[in-house]
Amino acid sequence: MNVLRFSDLVAAGRVAGRRVFVRADLNVPQDDAGNITEDTRIRASVPCIRMALDAGAAVMVTSHLGRPTEGEFKPEDSLAPVAARLSDLLGHPVALKADWVDGVDVKPGEVVLLENCRLNKGEKKNSEALARKMAALCDVFVHDAFGTAHRAEASTYGIAQFAPVACAGPLLAAEIDAITKALAHPKRPLVAIVAGSKVSTKLTILQSLAKNVDGLVVGGGIANTFMLAAGLPIGRSLAEPDLVGEAEAVIEAMKARGAAVPIPVDVVVAKEFKADAPATVKAAADVAADDMILDIGPRTAAMLADQLKAAGTVVWNGPVGVFEFDAFAHGTETVARAIAASSAFSIAGGGDTLAAIAKYGIEKDIGYISTGGGAFLEVLEGKTLPAFEILARRAAG
Ligand code: 3PG
Repeated sequence: MNVLRFSDLVAAGRVAGRRVFVRADLNVPQDDAGNITEDTRIRASVPCIRMALDAGAAVMVTSHLGRPTEGEFKPEDSLAPVAARLSDLLGHPVALKADWVDGVDVKPGEVVLLENCRLNKGEKKNSEALARKMAALCDVFVHDAFGTAHRAEASTYGIAQFAPVACAGPLLAAEIDAITKALAHPKRPLVAIVAGSKVSTKLTILQSLAKNVDGLVVGGGIANTFMLAAGLPIGRSLAEPDLVGEAEAVIEAMKARGAAVPIPVDVVVAKEFKADAPATVKAAADVAADDMILDIGPRTAAMLADQLKAAGTVVWNGPVGVFEFDAFAHGTETVARAIAASSAFSIAGGGDTLAAIAKYGIEKDIGYISTGGGAFLEVLEGKTLPAFEILARRAAG
């Protein structure tokens, strides 16, 4: 994808003394007292801000936090805790500025955080008037918020239309590169793992990947629906029987391309959904009427591990079992360690997947860990994200 990159502007000396507006995704989880409980997105946004500061720019940064009502400021919607954390991580003062749309006082070598951009009226609907005002604040607009790349809002899309220069920050550029490497020009075989509780929430992803991947591994409740489609018993397991037809269509689409959806040959079952429920390994054909499938079995896990180790590219979204309960975590652990051990380029995304990666400490062995939630899923659906579309359009002149 051809987009202008902020790093190229810096290298060309086009940033010194300029006013740079960075749209980051600093939408981090907080506890009831407002303490940040997980700061990956803030840490991931630091390189862009540092790059702008080091290049001698006057730096403005903004982000949304949550989904506040436009025009109605409430203390819990404030980016104040984010400003404090950002300042610690940068080792540089970060002033927080409210009511910033009509003007921001910032000098080269300074960074200001502009209060939650979703408090501005017109943000969500991408108001042209608001976007033009934001664009007028800067010489260079830097989109570095992959987590919001699937949104067309004033601070993500409209500003990119009207700013004198619009480019991708290093985080967004890294996401573009990883996605391109994994899905547009993959080293084959390309294996995708799509797991989760419901086929219905990931059906478009399954349908889109079925046109591209060489192996489509399904897990969790999704796998149970596919087992039903394959004529296997699933007892009381979570599934969507009304989507069996869709699951069959995905299996057929893969078959028609000479590819496959591996169906579990064995599973781990329990009579109750509980961490200490006794876990029993059974052949897939032997699941009893009162069993709940909570993980793939060891033979299935070993089969998938072999496939993943031989892959050229792996796309991973979702744990294959209830990995939060240790007795039902072996499948996910085996898959995670196989991806980590594989020479394949791997890309992983989604909250549960990131939690599994953290649980097994394999962060360094994954090719790229996406910061996107909904944005990552839309990429897997094969959609062109608004951020990529507008930046490519601006790069084309
Ligand atoms: C996310 O948390 O996935 C992003 O920050 C986007 O948030 P949104 O779904 O509220 O647009």
